[in-house]
Amino acid sequence: MQAQRAREAEQGSKRVYFHTLGCQMNEYDTGKMRAQLERDGYVVTDDPEQADLILVNTCSIRDKAVQKMHSALGEYRRLKREGQDVLIGVAGCVAQMEGGDLVKRYRDVDLVFDPDGVPHVRDLVREAEARRGSGRQVLDVDLLDLDNYPFVSDLDPASRGQVSAFVTIQKGCDNKCTFCIVPATRGAEVSRPHAEIVDEVRRLADTGVREITLIGQNVNSYGLKTPGEIPFSELLYRVHEVPGVERIRYTTSHPRDITDELIAAYAELPGLTSHLHLPVQSGSHRILRRMKRFYTRERFLEIVAGLRAARPDLALTTDIIVGFPSETDEDFDKTMTLLDEAGFVGAFSFKYSPRPGTAATHYKEGFDDAVSQRRLEVLQERLRELSTAYHRGLQGEVVEVLVEGWSKHDPGVICGRTSQNVMVNFPGTLDRLGKLARVRVTRGFTHSCRGEAVA
Ligand code: SAH
Ligand code: SF4
Ligand code: F3S
Repeated sequence: MQAQRAREAEQGSKRVYFHTLGCQMNEYDTGKMRAQLERDGYVVTDDPEQADLILVNTCSIRDKAVQKMHSALGEYRRLKREGQDVLIGVAGCVAQMEGGDLVKRYRDVDLVFDPDGVPHVRDLVREAEARRGSGRQVLDVDLLDLDNYPFVSDLDPASRGQVSAFVTIQKGCDNKCTFCIVPATRGAEVSRPHAEIVDEVRRLADTGVREITLIGQNVNSYGLKTPGEIPFSELLYRVHEVPGVERIRYTTSHPRDITDELIAAYAELPGLTSHLHLPVQSGSHRILRRMKRFYTRERFLEIVAGLRAARPDLALTTDIIVGFPSETDEDFDKTMTLLDEAGFVGAFSFKYSPRPGTAATHYKEGFDDAVSQRRLEVLQERLRELSTAYHRGLQGEVVEVLVEGWSKHDPGVICGRTSQNVMVNFPGTLDRLGKLARVRVTRGFTHSCRGEAVA
């Protein structure tokens, strides 16, 4: 290993290790950094002990995510102390929030930059390389907030040969949900020009990608604030036209910005998948108001009814926060009853975590962690039942999946997702990769299904 490393160093290739925490935006940013650093001779390694550069792309959505960053940094700083000649960088949302403190607290971290640093990561890394050993850290945490924000067009090298890929359509968020730190970490919403988006989709389709997931924090407000830009529903039609694109997904959308045109797209675009992740956060109108979500429980159910009328086989998933300040047992019950009324088949659920600088931290009622924990357990138990029932309900049915690769666990078994985003594992070989396959579901579990291919 050492000899190989020395050889590569001689040839000028350096190794970078990425540790990515957080949401799809961070995953995508990591991909863009991979692409750019590759141009400077970096190759990706999956072993931090072999790395010349370690980049931790961080998340500050809940306190737990921030703690994960601290323990990862502890590990990588230990490698450095033990003699590994490595540069350590911290990117992402915690860097934006706490960059100044991070460089003070961790004198051996070489480089700290926020999400807006991603487009010029090469310059930042070069600067850190030039300062190596000088004790002078590189800190770049000024959100750009430019109308012509430079979205990176290089393709993530890891998307080569993949069936499915993310494409970012906007950065930042203009909402002010009172619990949420994202507007502070990612800045104001900027829509990426649609021609750039369609071009990236086309280039991905040319490499064999069949499924595109359009990403942003509030994708359905895409284009609304940019004069002359097309709305999100129209963007779906444009992406749908790209040859080779079999399926389109998107995440995350906000109930407030679901338009009739977007609902109509579900009736008109067969490639738009029958799965929607629509975060509701709470089933109580009182709590929704205090979260500043700008919809009622009734409005949410109306949207769901409209979507189901346009697309009867739609699978709906959501995000839920329990224990928001002042949430009572009665409010929580409303969240529980909404699960059935809306017909969710799954959800990400979280205990409220107060985030620095957000409006909800000033609510005087506070919250009780033990109560939140109890509610979370009740909610998660019900969510497990719902997703298991949904998957068991598919037993005996023939579904169509887009084959993604080998299953994680069993040799000789491949996996693919249905349009509704249900993972199905079935015996097969990789000559089906990237193709649609008809599969009879034999068993439904909590997180996936098992099946067998039919002719
Ligand atoms: N932009 C997306 C969500 C981004 S964050 C949207 O508006 O839906 C992903 C999820 O994390 C949120 O939907 C919410 O459920 C959860 N979340 C955000 N801030 C949180 C906090 N302070 N405590 C607990 N969960 C939080
Ligand atoms: Fe956060 Fe709300 Fe923006 Fe989503 S819409 S990123 S929850 S502020
Ligand atoms: Fe986390 Fe930042 Fe995403 S806070 S959820 S990585 S936008």
